[in-house]
Amino acid sequence: MALNLREQTFVLEGGKRLSGSVQVGGSKNATLGAMAAALLVPGDCFLENVPVIDDVEQMALVLRSLGCDVEWAGDHTLRLNATEITSSCPDREIVGTLRGSFLVMGALLGRLGEAACPPPGGDIIGGRPIDVHLAGFRALGAVTEVSQEMFRAKAPELRGATFFADYPSVLGTQNTMMAAVCAKGTSTIVNAAAEPEVQSLAAILNEMGADITSAGTNTITINGVERLHGARFRIIPDRLEAGTFAIAAVITGGEAELRGVEPDHMQGFLAKLRQAGVDVQTSGDVMRVSAGGELQALTLQALPYPGFPTDLQAPMAVLLTQAQGVSTVHERVFDNRLGYISDLRKMGAEIVTTGTTAAIITGPTPLSGSALKALDVRAGAAFILAGLAANGRTTVSDIYHVDRGYERIDEKLRSLGADIERA
Ligand code: EPU
Repeated sequence: MALNLREQTFVLEGGKRLSGSVQVGGSKNATLGAMAAALLVPGDCFLENVPVIDDVEQMALVLRSLGCDVEWAGDHTLRLNATEITSSCPDREIVGTLRGSFLVMGALLGRLGEAACPPPGGDIIGGRPIDVHLAGFRALGAVTEVSQEMFRAKAPELRGATFFADYPSVLGTQNTMMAAVCAKGTSTIVNAAAEPEVQSLAAILNEMGADITSAGTNTITINGVERLHGARFRIIPDRLEAGTFAIAAVITGGEAELRGVEPDHMQGFLAKLRQAGVDVQTSGDVMRVSAGGELQALTLQALPYPGFPTDLQAPMAVLLTQAQGVSTVHERVFDNRLGYISDLRKMGAEIVTTGTTAAIITGPTPLSGSALKALDVRAGAAFILAGLAANGRTTVSDIYHVDRGYERIDEKLRSLGADIERA
């Protein structure tokens, strides 16, 4: 990543009411899974509706370090070709820049029968073990080896099996699914993650010739096939970008039309947005949100899908600082994802935390502009939202975190009337 990107800052003048229409892009996390899946195929795969964000560029570097061709082949379209895989271990430094890089492990194991991967990077939001991934590989007959420096898995032959996941890990489910698609016989993942990004990975693998059923439930069945072939696939809408823009509009007392969304993937979020008093209308892939009267306090738990998404927990907490009454937020997916709260307090929010997973927010409190530093992609987005609602000027530094997951967030917010510049 270029040094100057690390030095960029968003400068916001808060208090502007947002209004207008914005196009939501393809899902970051679904794209990372789909890119890894291309490693299973000796031929061309085309991904459409790919967001142009730093995590996608980093994942492209991870795949290139394995010999896979990755290039932009049109507007938001990637072509990937893994006909020649030249290594079973991706570049250590690049893998360390994002969590999704670890998905190459399941794909390489499925394709080559062996894989190695250095420890992946990712946001610092709590313990992020890999035990579910490795247990999934072992259930399919692989031998795994773990050291400080490297994860390894090797199987002379992958065999279908029933695998019970101790936790419905999103990447753990995806990795096990990719290792199982060409295994001999039938595999079942019990206590699987049901997130739309898991469903989307199953859909692209099926387009490539796999036989996967019931992704999106907590038991996924994978009938092993001989081989996969190239495919063309459209990435699903980014439910987290859509949620972020919905909050941006209503926290400023405004309204927005969000185009290119999948409301079905957003039920946990939309239920809470409505409970807060926001008017939400959906029609096909268009969603309209409008701040009715006063926002109302509520109780919220971040949970695995279809529960309220952990990735929108920080943005929603910012909204709750502007809601009437006492809200409670309980983060139940990650054990340390409230790091942004001390900065919100600095801006004037009234928030008490219990340990590292629960917060009590009393609102509404006026927020005042402040100098903030993005901690990770979602907390960075939450700070932008706080800046939009605040009086005066807010600066958010280290915005490379935000650029990892949101395409041109500043331009899109400006199109809704926000006063935000990249400095
Ligand atoms: N966990 C285990 N064992 C494992 C893996 C996870 O106990 O082997 C636990 C973790 O400690 C954590 C919980 O399971 O408490 C959830 O972790 P999960 O594995 O489901 O998360 P992930 O797959 O590493 C993906 C997304 C995250 C998103 C989570 C939860 C990608 C690249 N990342 O991470 O996205 O928060 O699922 O939905 O898909 C983001 O986009 O900002 C982001 C962090």
